[in-house]
Parts: sequence; C-alpha cells; structure tokens
Amino acid sequence: MSISIAIDGPAGAGKSTIAKLAAKELGFIYVDTGALYRAIGLYAHRKGVKAADTQAVIALLPEIRVELSFNESGAQIVLLNGEDVSGLIRTPEISMMASAVSAIPEVRAFLLDLQRDMAHTKNVIMDGRDIGTVVLPDAKLKIFLFASPECRAKRRYDELVEKGMDVRYDDVLKDVIDRDYADSHRAIAPLKPADDAVMVDTSGEDLDTSVNRLLTIMREHI
Ligand code: DC
Repeated sequence: MSISIAIDGPAGAGKSTIAKLAAKELGFIYVDTGALYRAIGLYAHRKGVKAADTQAVIALLPEIRVELSFNESGAQIVLLNGEDVSGLIRTPEISMMASAVSAIPEVRAFLLDLQRDMAHTKNVIMDGRDIGTVVLPDAKLKIFLFASPECRAKRRYDELVEKGMDVRYDDVLKDVIDRDYADSHRAIAPLKPADDAVMVDTSGEDLDTSVNRLLTIMREHI
C-alpha cells in the first residue's frame, strides 16, 4: 500500500519548496498539482481563450493531454500535449489563468483521476488546494500550510526577481490577495483546511525551520 501525504494551503506559503525537500528526505515523490491547472491555463491562453469564458475553456479539454513525469533528480516535469512546459507555466499571467480555470468543475474533474492514480501507485507528498478535502480524503497525513499575505508576497517577489523578471512588490501582493480570494471563495473545492488537517503557520520562519517542523510531523504519522 502506498502512503500519501496531502499538503494544502494558499499560494506562496512555501508548500512546494518545503514539500520538495521533505519528499527527498523521506524518499517520496513530490507532486505539485498546481502545475496541472497552470498547464490548462497556458493552453487556454495560447488559444486566445479568456479564462472567464467557461464554455470555451471546457470545449478545449478534449484537445488537452497533461502528464507529469520526473527527471533523474526527482524534479517534476509537466508535459502539455507532449511539450515540456514546466518553465512556461510560472509567470504571473499564467498564475491568474490557472486560478480562473481551476474554478471550473469540468477542469477539476478532468484532472482528478490523474492525481489519484499517482497517489495509488507511489508514495507521494502531493501539494495543492483540495488534496486533503477532495483528491485524497484518506491521505495518511493532511497538512495545511499558511503564512501572512505580506510574507507570502515577499517570498514570491524574491523568487520572480531571482528569475530575472521585472515585477513590483505591490503588484505581487495584490496578486496574492486576489488569488487567495478567488481560490477560497469559488463554489467548487474551495481552499480550506480538511477537518483533520494539521495547521502549520510558516510566517517569518526560515526554510530549514519549516522543513524540520514538517519532517517531524510527517515522521510521527508514517
Ligand atoms: O499552487 P499554484 O499556485 O501553482 O496553483 C495554481 C492555481 O491552481 C491556484 O490559483 C489554485 C489552483 N489549484 C487548485 O485549484 N487546486 C489544486 N489542487 C492546485 C492548484
């Protein structure tokens, strides 16, 4: 039987960085489910479809094949109809597209089996918004990772600047707040902790401290 750990929480709480390191330490596969929604957002964007045009996004789904694979060092690669789009999905524009398409029930249903299949065949740490509540309700451990919007915006800003992108902190903060609102107020699978989730606040904490805190919780549960 494979073991699943669900990590949910808002954008920029440190889910991916922390989960990636913890997965390496435990020998688990790290699955970033946000990348799946981003790939669909990118496809819609390329087709010139507005994310608000729900019917047009749904009509694109039969043309889309999203797959996840992993390179030798365990890093996740996202394939959109066979093309590696792992880098292209990380822009602020595609973040907003991903948030919008993720509110469409047909899009969520389209990605559900892919996520569940991965967890059935491998030991995974899966990160997203609804992993503990919808995708893997029987996960061995559910963690809800959060931090203040300002702290999350600062981290995202630093990350984008590091990648050489020309961004302003205020814009990044506004994106974080807008996306939080959209992700937690949508009708389907809104961002919220599972009843049995362990709540972890990473505000003002350095990466090592957060990783060690999570590893301690994980080792107690698996
Ligand atoms: O984690 P992320 O920022 O890469 O996610 C991109 C968007 O996808 C985010 O706005 C919410 C959505 N998402 C979701 O609805 N459910 C998931 N399991 C993962 C992401």
